[in-house]
Amino acid sequence: MSTQEIPEENLPSGQGETAHGAVKVAEDPFADPGLPAHKPRIQDIDERAAKRSERTVALLFTVSMLSTIGFIASFVIFPINHIVYIWPFGHISSLNFSLGMTLGLALFCIGAGAVHWARTLMSDVETAQERHPIEATPEVKTKVMEDFREGAAESQLGRRKLIRNTMFGALAMVPLSGVVLLRELGPLPEDKLRHTLWARGKMLINQNTNEPLRPEDVAVGSLTFAIPEGLEESDHNFNTEIAKAALMIVRLQPGDIKDKQELEWSHEGIVAYSKICTHVGCPISLYEQQTHHVLCPCHQSTFDLADGARVIFGPAGHALPQLRIGVNDEGYLEALGDFEEPVGPAFWERG
Ligand code: FES
Repeated sequence: MSTQEIPEENLPSGQGETAHGAVKVAEDPFADPGLPAHKPRIQDIDERAAKRSERTVALLFTVSMLSTIGFIASFVIFPINHIVYIWPFGHISSLNFSLGMTLGLALFCIGAGAVHWARTLMSDVETAQERHPIEATPEVKTKVMEDFREGAAESQLGRRKLIRNTMFGALAMVPLSGVVLLRELGPLPEDKLRHTLWARGKMLINQNTNEPLRPEDVAVGSLTFAIPEGLEESDHNFNTEIAKAALMIVRLQPGDIKDKQELEWSHEGIVAYSKICTHVGCPISLYEQQTHHVLCPCHQSTFDLADGARVIFGPAGHALPQLRIGVNDEGYLEALGDFEEPVGPAFWERG
């Protein structure tokens, strides 16, 4: 028993005084009372009760597995727009309801099974862990490994094979729900990203006036934006299509065009290039008529329109795709086909 000296005014009356006016405390008020005695549970002393708990835990894990199967089946069975009345929720999507219920039940049963297992079958002997320095000594590490092995043995994972197998089954199947949810990402793009609305015979429509362009509408030094004939702003897929088909038209002096193919694909010096930057897809909007350079405002990639729109500065890794153009019988500018390479960020070509 330890003693401690405390000033008199801080102590209750009745304590014995010393010669200096302080008192001796008879007991340590902060003594560790220790842990209460361990009371064995019914499962610790009755193997039949332990078996019942084992079956309960296994049942919960099995219900989790069945719920996961139900989750996957719901995806297959229920159409996405099927509505049902369910009290007290009212009219709801049968697909959403069944997905929520089955996934919720699968996760709940795993949690409930683990809790029931811990409460009834794993060791419930309370142990006190002394504080120790943060850096573990070799002895402590050895002790930790011993405790780990002891805990593994006490959890009866090796002995209760039914629990172990059903638990691993439930844990292995729950992630399948995430795999099925990938369907919600929509259909694969297939080759849609490799093609635009441009096709042979489609007229170039001035994006500002919404009128078909004639060669004489495009002045030397001007920058004109065009969209394919037939694409209207009211179309539900307008943004998707314009993101691929946006075009910029520039008229150069034919003698200034250095690239042979560019010259062949142009009409009287009028060249048509994709407006979508090959870096990460910003719309290019700045044209420097003296140098024939176009500049992307996002990261300053610069392309030389007089030389096949090759990159002369910036992070873009690929020249702008050129659209082959001509003039139809009525004198309007038209496309002579689609772009011959994917537009936009160059990484599409690596797919
Ligand atoms: S998107 Fe054009 S330079 Fe980055």
